[in-house]
Amino acid sequence: MDLKGRWETSLAPTYATPGLVMDRGQGCHLYDAAGKRYLDFIAGIAVCSTGHSHPDVVRAIQKQAERLIHVSNLYATENVLRCAERLAAVTGYEKVFFCNSGAEANELALKTVRRHAHAKGKPEAVVIALEQSFHGRTTATVRLTGQPKYQKDFGPLPEGIVHVPANDVVALEMAFARQPVAGVFLEFVQGEGGVRALKPEFVQAVQRLCAANDALLVADEVQTGVGRTGRFLASMHFGVRPDITTLAKGIASGVPMGAVLFTSRSAALLAPGDHGCTFGGNPLATAAALATLDVLQRQRLVENADVTGAYLRDQVKTRVPGVKEVRGLGLLVGVELEAPIAKAVKTDAEQAGLLLNAIGDHVLRLAPPLVVTGHEVDEAVSILEKVVSRRGPSDPSRNL
Ligand SMILES: Cc1ncc(COP(=O)(O)O)c(C=O)c1O
Repeated sequence: MDLKGRWETSLAPTYATPGLVMDRGQGCHLYDAAGKRYLDFIAGIAVCSTGHSHPDVVRAIQKQAERLIHVSNLYATENVLRCAERLAAVTGYEKVFFCNSGAEANELALKTVRRHAHAKGKPEAVVIALEQSFHGRTTATVRLTGQPKYQKDFGPLPEGIVHVPANDVVALEMAFARQPVAGVFLEFVQGEGGVRALKPEFVQAVQRLCAANDALLVADEVQTGVGRTGRFLASMHFGVRPDITTLAKGIASGVPMGAVLFTSRSAALLAPGDHGCTFGGNPLATAAALATLDVLQRQRLVENADVTGAYLRDQVKTRVPGVKEVRGLGLLVGVELEAPIAKAVKTDAEQAGLLLNAIGDHVLRLAPPLVVTGHEVDEAVSILEKVVSRRGPSDPSRNL
């Protein structure tokens, strides 16, 4: 049976059937089962921060697998302690909870915000999230997500969550005026929402209103965290420190891990027994995360995301035709095309050896590994330039 047949026979129908079978990876390159090489500018959707199979990460995983893979949180390990200490040191947060994914991290953040509402005697207080946001696919996080298409026919979903348009200070003020608010969730750059950064004045308004109303500010940095935007946390671009920050994706170079960062004050809302995660912080995942943090530091990858990200945006702007806007921060880049040809461009680029991702009909998302070089950017932009030119940037009928 061919790939399509095997996939559709055995896998639950939640994903579009992939067109390629990937076999191995190295640095910024993936190789398919036939040995064809691809320049990977999506990196497992902003996950493979140190590149594919970085030797230090591989060695750390191998060594740890031989020693101890799992014990649960009934016992401590040196790895989980060191990983929490390192994350706290690099972010300025005080406490860390480990889990396996972004949605799980956001679930705990949401539970903590609910607990805060109870603690202040206002259990009815709402949580504010932003339109076009994306926070995950569990029932609570899909409700938090400000895109109704992800919620369709999955109700009834948890209540007490309202959405306001991103960057609309007046709507935010009105939401605070209308009802008690327990907390606000935001992504500093909305990734799935089209790679759109929040305006600094909006972030300041969120911070001001949260402080004035004793509401918790929660940053979902699942996509933007761990150096992706050219700062370790995207909040560092905005000069704010949210009460809670969630991480996942790039934190362990592709080994599943999520983390919730708390201040002492927000962590004090939780007590033993309030939450748990069997696999969370296990020795294998924390070994991969520790190696990832080492590589990030030694190879100065956060700085590279800043500098090479700026170069990537500049090159796309100057060389690729039919581009309406280039957005994003660091190596999380959105390219809005004038014509609705994003999906066709993605397919053509794939054939030409460049992997990227289309968000809707107009936007391409580029999120290469943080080890990407200027030379690799040149190569990727050359492919993109050719592919978009060939498609005819202003011919919408060709979005096949
Ligand atoms: C901002 C953001 N939050 C949460 C999630 C969900 O993460 P996961 O798929 O690991 O559950 C994603 C995934 O794309 C994301 O981009």
